[in-house]
Amino acid sequence: MGTFWDKDIEKWYKHFANSWDRPSREYIRTVLSLGQYNNILECGFGSGDIPLYINRKGIGIKYTGIEITKGFLEKAGVVFPQHTFIEGSIEKLPFKDGSFELAYSRHIMEYLTNYREAFYELRRVTEKRVVVVFFRITSDKDIICDGEGYWDNYYGLPGLKDFLSILFSNCEYHFIHEGEPYLNLIVDCEV
Ligand SMILES: C[S@@+](CC[C@H](N)C(=O)[O-])C[C@H]1O[C@@H](n2cnc3c(N)ncnc32)[C@H](O)[C@@H]1O
Repeated sequence: MGTFWDKDIEKWYKHFANSWDRPSREYIRTVLSLGQYNNILECGFGSGDIPLYINRKGIGIKYTGIEITKGFLEKAGVVFPQHTFIEGSIEKLPFKDGSFELAYSRHIMEYLTNYREAFYELRRVTEKRVVVVFFRITSDKDIICDGEGYWDNYYGLPGLKDFLSILFSNCEYHFIHEGEPYLNLIVDCEV
């Protein structure tokens, strides 16, 4: 049957690939360019802007990507044969504890029923750092919406901060406005 994205894979592939310059994408590139992490996981890689960046820069990072959308997995396997792509969900990662130094995910959490299982998993498989980009954050409470085939949520900042303070030793919160309705929040947490 495929996911919401599989139903119009060419459209979404182009959409993600053509938004390379979004400021909310640049944060992780800066982190990776510092050369502190050799082994990273990305959950929900879409068109693969992170493996593309790693290749363009010639950075020696072992990259693994997880996706639930088969169309993105097939394309990534062809375009980036040197990297590892695995079918799976951010809510149940097929890796042992501490398998990666850093885990990253952008614009997925709003499509899950909630963010908790995903963060438990990111924390479990990661040794050092977890970076997640949200695009819909409210100043108070969560608004949970069934988007028919995917979720379409807004998350409240106070609840998110409380939850992450239990899982991580320290988190930084960076807001990046990209025009309505995209108030991106980058959550950068140390294990
Ligand atoms: C809005 S797109 C963002 C793609 C990419 N991260 C980017 O920033 O361009 C959401 C992506 O998350 C993937 N996705 C959705 N739910 C997922 C899940 N439970 N586990 C892994 N990937 C998921 C979708 O297939 C899609 O590629």
